[in-house]
Amino acid sequence: MHDPRIIVALDFPSAEDALLLVKKLNPDLCRLKVGKELFTAVGPQLIEKLTHQGFEVFLDLKFHDIPNTVASACKAAANLGAWMINVHALGGRKMLTAAREAIPHGSATKLIAVTLLTSMDQSDIMDIGLQGKPEQIVERLARLANDCELDGVVCSALEASRLRQQLGNDFCLVTPGIRPADCQSDDQKRTTTPKQGILNGSHYLVIGRPITQAKNPVSVCQQINSEIAKLASNH
Ligand code: C5P
Repeated sequence: MHDPRIIVALDFPSAEDALLLVKKLNPDLCRLKVGKELFTAVGPQLIEKLTHQGFEVFLDLKFHDIPNTVASACKAAANLGAWMINVHALGGRKMLTAAREAIPHGSATKLIAVTLLTSMDQSDIMDIGLQGKPEQIVERLARLANDCELDGVVCSALEASRLRQQLGNDFCLVTPGIRPADCQSDDQKRTTTPKQGILNGSHYLVIGRPITQAKNPVSVCQQINSEIAKLASNH
């Protein structure tokens, strides 16, 4: 597959664990996501290593700081060769604009924003003084990210169809919480299947445990890719 829609979340405590899985995968099957745990444990060399192996890497560090610091962090992340990086939309317009200026449109690195963490419910939102329902806040923050000309957002696949309608086809929607029909949901609450995620307008499906814990990770990826390819040929 030329442009794989799966991003495998490498949620591992060490480079050895992560590389054991990566050895079985290949860049035609999937992209890879490195998050705070793995990055903090092993450092930036891993990003360069995975990139040298031909993988496109989403560096999921969710930057949230003053505009100047976020802009510099974004530049440093892009210099590692990351295919995609992200910031928190809650950092606000000035921070998002500074990040965009640091990683201009058309750079090799895509810049997206996290809207509202899916772990936050209504009571968490009230605790921090935000008004409205989670889906309204997600929509507002996604519009803000779009206004600041970011390339897209991370959102739940359940919110994707509405955001797709409102923000158009070029705005990239990256969706975690994906579970193939025969998989357990683990601690994810609002899940969709890969097929439903794509039908809802997701560009990229972030998938962790259903692939990382599978007996045969390659065959899970292949199965998902062929489901997605069937959808494309039916439309
Ligand atoms: O194992 P699982 O498929 O649940 O992993 C999902 C991945 O997506 C994890 O790396 C998790 O941190 C990430 N993620 C998420 N929900 C968000 C943002 C990121 O599950 N809102």
